[in-house]
Amino acid sequence: MEIKFIDFKIIGDERGGLIALEENLSIPFDIKRVYYIFDNKNGIRRGLHTHKKLRQVLISISGSCKILLDDGIKRTDILLDSKDKGLLVEPFIWHEMYDFSPDSILMVLASDFYDESDYIRSYQDFIKIVRK
Ligand code: TYD
Repeated sequence: MEIKFIDFKIIGDERGGLIALEENLSIPFDIKRVYYIFDNKNGIRRGLHTHKKLRQVLISISGSCKILLDDGIKRTDILLDSKDKGLLVEPFIWHEMYDFSPDSILMVLASDFYDESDYIRSYQDFIKIVRK
């Protein structure tokens, strides 16, 4: 499985840091939606689904968390702990988020609006589709 990170340019100066994200430039799609995950309770796992069409870029803008990616054949765990790195998650990649630090804020840029019919929330169904 190819793990695709996007490195964002930090426009820092003596006052602090700044990162700008631009649609179809640093982010490789039209950004239709932004959501962020925070105040996660200890030990919980989130995600546990994949998408049929949606493309997403995950950015840990505070603290850290881990991401499990699974293409149906291989599983990889990734530590996301920098504000200047985006993890591209393509359709039909099963993903789970876990090990959130208390100060974790995980921001997600998505290529489309929220649409429950784009989700596959059963791992069994996901495996059936990708191994076909
Ligand atoms: P869920 O998919 O369980 O979140 P996670 O992937 O973090 O585990 O979503 C939780 C609820 O929030 C669910 O009822 C769907 C809703 N939701 C929206 O309304 N809009 C969104 O953009 C997202 C991501 C979720």
